[in-house]
Amino acid sequence: MLTAENKFESGKNNVVQGSLQPFNSIDALNDHYIALTRSGHAELVEKKIVPDIGPFFVTGDGTGKEPVILVGEAPGKDEVSEGRPFVGAAGKILDDLLVRSGIRRDGLYITNIVKYRLAKAGKREGTYANRPVKRHEIELCSEWLKAELLYIKPKLVLTLGNTALQGILRCVETGSPVSGSIGDIHGRKIEVSVKGESLKFLLIPLYHPASLIYNRQLKVQYELDLEEVKKCAQSIL
Ligand code: URA
Repeated sequence: MLTAENKFESGKNNVVQGSLQPFNSIDALNDHYIALTRSGHAELVEKKIVPDIGPFFVTGDGTGKEPVILVGEAPGKDEVSEGRPFVGAAGKILDDLLVRSGIRRDGLYITNIVKYRLAKAGKREGTYANRPVKRHEIELCSEWLKAELLYIKPKLVLTLGNTALQGILRCVETGSPVSGSIGDIHGRKIEVSVKGESLKFLLIPLYHPASLIYNRQLKVQYELDLEEVKKCAQSIL
């Protein structure tokens, strides 16, 4: 559990070191990557890989000093209208995760691997619907996640679902080879270091709870995995 003394330890000296550009604030980091991602997205539009919509950005929520990072897939409609990740229906996912893991809300930086809505044209004119992520978009957005990791220097990172897992696996290396499949490694504590950097942290991949609604067995597994997260958080935070 977080204590008043140690809750901000991992965020000391929040300046990105190493090969990436240093940033003096999480807002400066986000502004830099919004510009980069906007131009990368425009290239994907030009190549007709993604529809010419948006991008509607929602950046991470937190001070950048939190010891735990939660990485989801991408913001949805509610997140875009409120300008924060995991609100609306997804807010319930977040509340449940906090209760089950015992992690305090102020100890958690909440972000997504893709920081814009994965939107396509909706059925009615002027409306949008969600669409699946493209591999190119995970590639486009993973450098932004890497910069967040280096800036925040977390002790623990939780990923929700396969897209977030594929994104973080592009940013880190593990001591021994691990399967990249969420079905194989959900709930496992994996020691990782950021590629080309000295920063190390524990990664626990979790199923995305939104994808488990109709699968009782996987939902039970997700809840068991959160008990592991709780034990881990109690021992390292
Ligand atoms: N809202 C988010 O911000 N991310 C998700 O992965 C799901 C809902």
